[in-house]
Amino acid sequence: MSTYILGISCYYHDASAALLKDGVIVAAAEEERFTRKKHDSSFPINAIQYCLESQNITIQDITHIGYYEKPLLKFERILSQHIETFPLSYKTFLSALPSWLSEKLRPVKTIKKKLLYTGDILFIEHHLAHAASAFLLSPFEKAAIVTVDGVGEWTTTAYGKGEGNEICLMKEIRFPSSIGLLYSTITAYLGFSVNNSEYKVMGLAPYGTMDRDKNEYYNKLRRVIDIKDDGSFKLDMSYFIFHYADRMPSKKLCVLLGAPVTKRDSEMTQRHQDIAAAVQLITEEVLTKILLHVYEATICDNLVMAGGVALNSVFNGKILKNSPFKRVWMQPNASDGGTSIGVASFIYHSIMGHKRKNHLDSAYLGQEFSTKEIRSFLISNNINFSQFTDQKELIENTARLINEDNVVGWFQGRVEWGPRALGTRSILANPINPRAKELLNTKVKHREKFRPFAPVVCEDDAPVYFECDLPLPEPTDFMLMVYPIKKEWQHRMPSVTHVDGSGRLQTVKRRQNSLYYDLIKEFGKLSGIPILINTSFNIRGEPIVCTPYDAYKCMMGTGIDYLVMDRFLIRREDNPQDMWDSEEYADD
Ligand SMILES: [Fe+2]
Repeated sequence: MSTYILGISCYYHDASAALLKDGVIVAAAEEERFTRKKHDSSFPINAIQYCLESQNITIQDITHIGYYEKPLLKFERILSQHIETFPLSYKTFLSALPSWLSEKLRPVKTIKKKLLYTGDILFIEHHLAHAASAFLLSPFEKAAIVTVDGVGEWTTTAYGKGEGNEICLMKEIRFPSSIGLLYSTITAYLGFSVNNSEYKVMGLAPYGTMDRDKNEYYNKLRRVIDIKDDGSFKLDMSYFIFHYADRMPSKKLCVLLGAPVTKRDSEMTQRHQDIAAAVQLITEEVLTKILLHVYEATICDNLVMAGGVALNSVFNGKILKNSPFKRVWMQPNASDGGTSIGVASFIYHSIMGHKRKNHLDSAYLGQEFSTKEIRSFLISNNINFSQFTDQKELIENTARLINEDNVVGWFQGRVEWGPRALGTRSILANPINPRAKELLNTKVKHREKFRPFAPVVCEDDAPVYFECDLPLPEPTDFMLMVYPIKKEWQHRMPSVTHVDGSGRLQTVKRRQNSLYYDLIKEFGKLSGIPILINTSFNIRGEPIVCTPYDAYKCMMGTGIDYLVMDRFLIRREDNPQDMWDSEEYADD
């Protein structure tokens, strides 16, 4: 009989569920994909149901449920921070209390009630769940582990070592000193949404002055953080209010940065760009020092990382250059959403003592739809479509459509695990078209002009076009590393080349996704460059599409020209185009 373990993460942001069968992750999904509410933090009932149904099992087959944090310990931190800052914290505390009393402190009650589950429920510390997701699913027998995020219970940064099925976290930095919360504070200061748009700050940074001596905001921001040689750091809390209020930038910080908090959707000026560059520089400085120290403390060539800050792909692309580590690994869902696979793996391997056999080398863990289901969706909704006779015809025709500058919605197989579309729910376009960025931005994505699109390339072609580490680190498969695009190619693919000449590439191995791999190669035969623009299949503010209905609706409400869904081809022009106007729905 198989051992099934369910991991759950919820009530903060990006709720998710993951199912482990005999030590292997067989299904994992974020709740937002089902509820269509971006970063949905509610109890992941739909994601859990999907996990169970995907294996044809019921809740009675689950031997253990794991929860991604210790709620009492977290509540203790929240109580203590509010007591310390009383009466300033009064209002925030009062508004936070009801959700703590009704659900956040009672996951056991909710799990039992909503799932009718009567078995064991185990809780592990948040950073241990991050660490487990990074190490136990990695290809390494032994590795140094670094976790960095906003905050867990008390921990904001930790490091340690993993060997076999054991994890030992050796040191930590505690709340309120947090590099994640510093980054989020600047995200809020620049007029972007916290826990959502930190990556936009990362994208804005290269427009600013990345030379520390010439960036006045770097020197100003350095006043709010004391960084020691070993990477440990302390925030000067007189500049912050996140420990007692909702709005993150304080008046003192605004004075330091020379203006009030930026209004949402403001034009980004040189000043904003320099502030984004400053926080990116400080983050890289802290992380580089941490990595140098962790290497000395662990004497291990392999590094695994997790936590929201591990999604900083600009820093990630510099890890192997700027530290002694020789190999690096992160999971596709390195932020909080990914802790459900961490806690499930920790229970099976570290608590139950089973040997590891679960290297996660593919992000395709979500819902899928059969050809029969998709055909029936198309027919029952009177949608005009045609059908490819075989895979060869599908690939040749799709490559031709992209080469003719059409924007193609690509819906194939299982939904990706994590925040990035990696070739099963993607919008694909021609990177050689100089108008592609403008076209995608105005017709489909409605996103900020400063953000470039991401290139996808087959693993074997990556070194031709990118100045990447060799051998290629696996996190490039999950779009987690930014590398410079080789100078001679930058002008050939302007829409995927960032202002500093870099690209946030995704690499594909044929064994992971043969259809996607073959499509990129076929496009290369037609265009001379085997690279596509790969952007998530959604409009701004929406979760990535999950079902055929989501995909069709997204296409019909935007300027996507064709939808290639399983073996079916749907042309926008052949169908009524008044479903809804995507611009109306575009949000942060
Ligand atoms: Fe976290």
